[in-house]
Amino acid sequence: MKDLSVSLGDLTLSTPLVAAAGTVGSVVEFKDVIDFRKYGAAVAKSVSPEPWKGRPSPRIGHAGVGMLNGIGIQNPGIDAWLDEIAPDLPDIPVPVWGSAVAHDVEGFAIVASKMQEADLEAIEINLSCPNLEGIPFALDPARSAQVVSHVRAATTLPIGAKLSPDAQPVSEVAMAVVDAGADWVVMGNTVMGAAIDPHTRRPVLSGVVGGYSGDPIRPIAVRCVLEIRAALPDTPIVACGGVSHADHVLEYLLAGADAVAIGSAHFNAPRIADRISKDLRTYMTARGIERLHEMKGAWESWI
Ligand SMILES: Cc1cc2nc3c(=O)[nH]c(=O)nc-3n(C[C@H](O)[C@H](O)[C@H](O)COP(=O)(O)O)c2cc1C
Repeated sequence: MKDLSVSLGDLTLSTPLVAAAGTVGSVVEFKDVIDFRKYGAAVAKSVSPEPWKGRPSPRIGHAGVGMLNGIGIQNPGIDAWLDEIAPDLPDIPVPVWGSAVAHDVEGFAIVASKMQEADLEAIEINLSCPNLEGIPFALDPARSAQVVSHVRAATTLPIGAKLSPDAQPVSEVAMAVVDAGADWVVMGNTVMGAAIDPHTRRPVLSGVVGGYSGDPIRPIAVRCVLEIRAALPDTPIVACGGVSHADHVLEYLLAGADAVAIGSAHFNAPRIADRISKDLRTYMTARGIERLHEMKGAWESWI
């Protein structure tokens, strides 16, 4: 049997696949829909200090072959999450990571500290949601570092900082969050985008601007992974953006990622990880690769 396991800092993931935040619900309601054993970890929908009702509809739509969303992180708030979702997390057959979101530094710390009570392996810090008021934290290295250092002080769990492909240069944000105590970076969230329907003259999303995801954003995220890997050779990276095929996973590993998250592809094919893991094994057999981790950073230059 080929070894799909990868290392992510001090963690070992049984496969490089991670179910991306917000694309498998709270995780619990997807328990009987997808085979979580195909993933090395599953990330729960982001949770805020108090309940958020999200944006009004329409908050999801197509734009070309990609998808626009402006959900606005509808969630019950951390207290209800602990009562209603957390008790069922031990039924998920793979490690679950929480995801913290807030409007301010203190809010992130409150969520992270309360998440400590749940059966979680790690916490992602969602610095990069494009559907909130104001400029995302992830566009500013200093504000991102401030959030991470507060979360670091609030929890003993490993933390991943979820960055934005809209940041320039993204490696500066990555260096700032690692200095502040992040154990890895997640690269990354959706790209800020908008679309207008010429037949109705209305934007696809009620909030006009939202997060663009799916196939078209992969080259943007690959560029970001290459940039971060060059700046931070030892920092673990979870790549995310436009993954729907084993080749996309391999591409991110070659670029220097340690693990790879699948997001909006779940909406078309909830069991997509079954096919991807089978195809990864076929690729490894054809090339005599024993451990998938050998692929990490192994891209070759033309010159
Ligand atoms: C409908 C929807 C909801 C999402 N909700 C969250 C969320 O709650 N927290 C988060 O960190 N990312 C969230 N994301 C971003 C995804 O986790 C992922 O980073 C992004 O979609 C890019 O990956 P993809 O191109 O594979 O979809 C959401 C994405 C979509 C499409």
